[in-house]
Amino acid sequence: MRGNLENLASLHADKHHVFVKGDIGDSGLLASLLATHQPRAVLNFAAESHVDRSIHGPEDFIQTNIVGTFRLLEEVRAYWSQLEGDAKQVFRFLHVSTDEVYGSLGKEDPTFTETNRYEPNSPYSASKAASDHLVRAYHHTYGLPVLTTHCSNNYGPYHFPEKLIPLMIVNALAGKPLPVYGDGQQIRDWLYVKDHCSAIRRVLEAGKAGEVYNVGGWNEKPNIDIVNTVCALLDELQPRGDGQHYREQITYVKDRLGHDRRYAIDASKIEHELGWKPAETFETGIRKTVQWYLANPEWVAHVQSGAYREWTNKQYAYEHKSVKPQEAAA
Ligand code: DAU
Repeated sequence: MRGNLENLASLHADKHHVFVKGDIGDSGLLASLLATHQPRAVLNFAAESHVDRSIHGPEDFIQTNIVGTFRLLEEVRAYWSQLEGDAKQVFRFLHVSTDEVYGSLGKEDPTFTETNRYEPNSPYSASKAASDHLVRAYHHTYGLPVLTTHCSNNYGPYHFPEKLIPLMIVNALAGKPLPVYGDGQQIRDWLYVKDHCSAIRRVLEAGKAGEVYNVGGWNEKPNIDIVNTVCALLDELQPRGDGQHYREQITYVKDRLGHDRRYAIDASKIEHELGWKPAETFETGIRKTVQWYLANPEWVAHVQSGAYREWTNKQYAYEHKSVKPQEAAA
């Protein structure tokens, strides 16, 4: 996981915040943190999350997402079992999952609901699916009060530039190619990160233990539209010095292996049962996002470390071999 302490800079002086660097699979550390801090909830955001990295090297995904979630569940179960009265009643374990566990949709298929069959297609989504099943089993078998959320593609400030939107922004500004996989017609549903946070907060305060909630932005868009929108915003907010458009940098490249064609979330359950709705439209959220990257060049420079450059060299080594959309998709 690409954790970055700089993302927590605004919390350094907050006495309610404690940072501990550790491994989700370190049972001893987990046990001592639970005993010391006596939390009323544990939220599991810990995951290896980038599909392309899972294709190059699945092992870390198995360790963190499956074994790590298992170890966390074991320690949380031990902690929760010895709680009494109200503390035991109100305790919650919230597991943050993904819409990718439901697999890929055709263009006309209905959107994913909470009862969709699991059909994970990448090592990443398979590892998340396995962790979801463990969480479900700990509720069914031991009565652990769990909540699970499945969200769509997040975007917004502080997003590591291995994912589509931040990668396009930083590459565009650096004058580099904007690598679009295949024909660029894959569809994702986009959710502004603060909306994801407000949904998690809502599920934590009002969700029913054992239930699953889908969280989405009602913003289904093909990748190429996303890239064109980012380019148009950059043209407006920080035009290229040579008077050309950023979209000139778009480069179709070979498709991702096993690339899922479409994800789309039906977020009506969380809306009807818990009264949650996203506050941002894609248009408002993407403008804020591009503005944030333009206002934070130091953050961008710092995250592009040696390890980041190693990753982009490995993943985009073929960027010099650009292809036409129809060849890229083949
Ligand atoms: O749907 C939720 C999921 O969204 C999360 O569970 C994952 O952790 C998160 O990484 C994201 O998965 P995606 O694979 O959809 O996100 P990514 O940003 O990697 O890619 C979005 C789309 O853009 C996907 O169709 C692949 C395409 N893409 C991505 C990159 C990095 C490109 O065309 N070019 C690129 O360079």
